[in-house]
Amino acid sequence: MKKFAVIGQPIKHSLSPRIHSEFAKELGIDISYDAIEIAPKDFNSTTKQLLENGYDGLNVTLPLKELAYRLADEVSETGRETGAVNTLWKEKGKILADSTDGKGLLEDLLNNQISLKDSNLVILGAGGAALSILPSILSLHPQKVTILNRTLEKSCALVDKFKDRGVQLQAIPMKEAPEGSLTGVINTTSAEVTGEDLILNVSIFKKADWSYDLSYSKETTSFNQLAKDSGIEVCFDGLGMLVSQAAFSFKIWTGKQPPTNRVLSLIKSFL
Ligand code: ATR
Repeated sequence: MKKFAVIGQPIKHSLSPRIHSEFAKELGIDISYDAIEIAPKDFNSTTKQLLENGYDGLNVTLPLKELAYRLADEVSETGRETGAVNTLWKEKGKILADSTDGKGLLEDLLNNQISLKDSNLVILGAGGAALSILPSILSLHPQKVTILNRTLEKSCALVDKFKDRGVQLQAIPMKEAPEGSLTGVINTTSAEVTGEDLILNVSIFKKADWSYDLSYSKETTSFNQLAKDSGIEVCFDGLGMLVSQAAFSFKIWTGKQPPTNRVLSLIKSFL
C-alpha cells in the first residue's frame, strides 16, 4: 500500500484526502492518505521525517509551499519558476518537488471548453497564487494579460519577472480598467479565504466572456457573485482546479492519471 498525506496549517478542512481516496478507488490502487498539520517552524524536520518514515508522497498547501520548494533536492522547471511547490516525493534518497497548480487550472479550463490562445485576460491579485498559475497561462499564448493588484508594486514585479514570454503583460492601478474587450477575469486574491471584503474595480467585468475564481465555496463565491451582478454569465470556481491539480500529483506518485469528472461531482456534494 502506498502512503500519502497533505501537509499545511490549518489542514482540518482539506478536501485532498477525499479526492485522492476517490482517485485510488477509481483506479483500483491501494493507498492511505492523511491530513497532517505542520507549523512553518517545524516544517523541515517533520517533513523529512515523514518522507523517511514511510510516506511515498506529500501534497503541500498554505503556508508551506515556499518552504517545500527550499527543502527539495530537485525541483521541476515550473516549481523553480514559481518558487513554490505543492507536491513532494522521494526518489533514490532525494526529495523531489513539482508544482501542479498551473497545470490543474489549464486542465480545468480545457474541461470547460475555455481556450486562452489569443485571449485578453485580467488577473486579479499578485501573490503566491497568481505566481503559481502565471507561467502555465503564458504557455498557452494569450494575446495580453493585465494584472491588477491592491499593491501595484507586486503586480509590477510579476510583469517584470515574466516580461520575456512573448505575451503582452501589464500591471495597471486597481482603479483603471484594461482597454478593449476582455476574454476572462481570473481572481487569485486570498480575500475569500481570509473573509475580507474583496477590493476590486467592477469595470473589469465589462465586456468579459467569463470569470474564474481560484477560491471555491458551497455557494457562489463573492468574486463570482460580483461578476454575475455585472452581467457575466459564465463563472467558474476553483474546485475543478483543485481536483485537477490533485490528479497531476497522483500521476507523479503512481504513474497513473486519474479521471476527474466523477470525483469533481462527488466533492461538490461534500462542500
Ligand atoms: P496567496 O498565496 O493566497 O496568493 P498572498 O501571497 O498573501 O496569498 O497574496 C494574496 C493576494 O491577494 C495579494 O495579491 C493581495 O493583495 P496585496 O498584494 O495588495 O496584499 C490580494 N488580496 C488579499 N486580500 C485582498 C482584498 N481584500 N482585496 C483585494 N485583494 C486582496
